[in-house]
Amino acid sequence: MDNITAVSGASGRTGFRVAEEALAHGRAVRLLVRPASKLPPSLAHCDVRRLDFGQLSQLVEALRGCHSLVMATGARPSANLLGPFQVDNQTVQRQVQACQQAGVGRVVLVSSLCSGQLWHNLNLFGLILVCKRWGEEALERSGLDWTIVRPGGLKETEANPEQQELVVSGANTQQQGAIPRRLVARYCLECLDAPDTVHRVLEITSKPRRAL
Ligand SMILES: NC(=O)c1ccc[n+]([C@@H]2O[C@H](COP(=O)([O-])OP(=O)(O)OC[C@H]3O[C@@H](n4cnc5c(N)ncnc54)[C@H](OP(=O)(O)O)[C@@H]3O)[C@@H](O)[C@H]2O)c1
Repeated sequence: MDNITAVSGASGRTGFRVAEEALAHGRAVRLLVRPASKLPPSLAHCDVRRLDFGQLSQLVEALRGCHSLVMATGARPSANLLGPFQVDNQTVQRQVQACQQAGVGRVVLVSSLCSGQLWHNLNLFGLILVCKRWGEEALERSGLDWTIVRPGGLKETEANPEQQELVVSGANTQQQGAIPRRLVARYCLECLDAPDTVHRVLEITSKPRRAL
């Protein structure tokens, strides 16, 4: 088996950073994106597979030869209230199935803080937190070596990520907080190499590091 890490949703704001960080650490990466997805110039020379995520066979084909997958797909905010059901539930489930069929053993899913909560403002967009939990549950049942990373509110800032300290805790322990996408990307890759994160739901936010 080649040592390739697949990144799905690599055109997204967390996904492209996962791919960039993986490349920076010398990993072989394969990007799984939709036919019309736009990738940043930093990923122009990558192995890119453009596919219909609704087709299991295309996902299986794209994942063949990969040993791990970081799933950074997610419904983009839109008027389509079925988006979360289709992407955060169904598309995640299909990727899980594809990993099983393609022999990808290690999977990290980018989910969200408060996943599974019903009474939450974020659910105004297509019950997204409920849909995310259904996606997570499919991964938990999969028999794969999985880690679910639930970040707080995602920030675009790239300013001094080293000055932020991660707050990591188990399932259903953090209700609020935020974190730069760059740090989520790094953490997902760290999980791939950390056996003690297998079969764990981990919630992450960040806060300014205290001066020594
Ligand atoms: N926004 C927040 O504050 C927040 C907080 C916690 C967790 N999260 C979750 O964290 C993850 C990453 O968020 P983000 O804001 O970095 O993502 P994003 O920039 O919105 O990117 C979403 C990615 O998912 C892909 N995608 C959307 N619909 C798809 C479909 N039907 N089939 C295949 N791929 C599809 C997009 O592809 P295209 O480029 O082709 O559109 C893109 O690559 C998401 O699951 C999100 O829900 C977000």
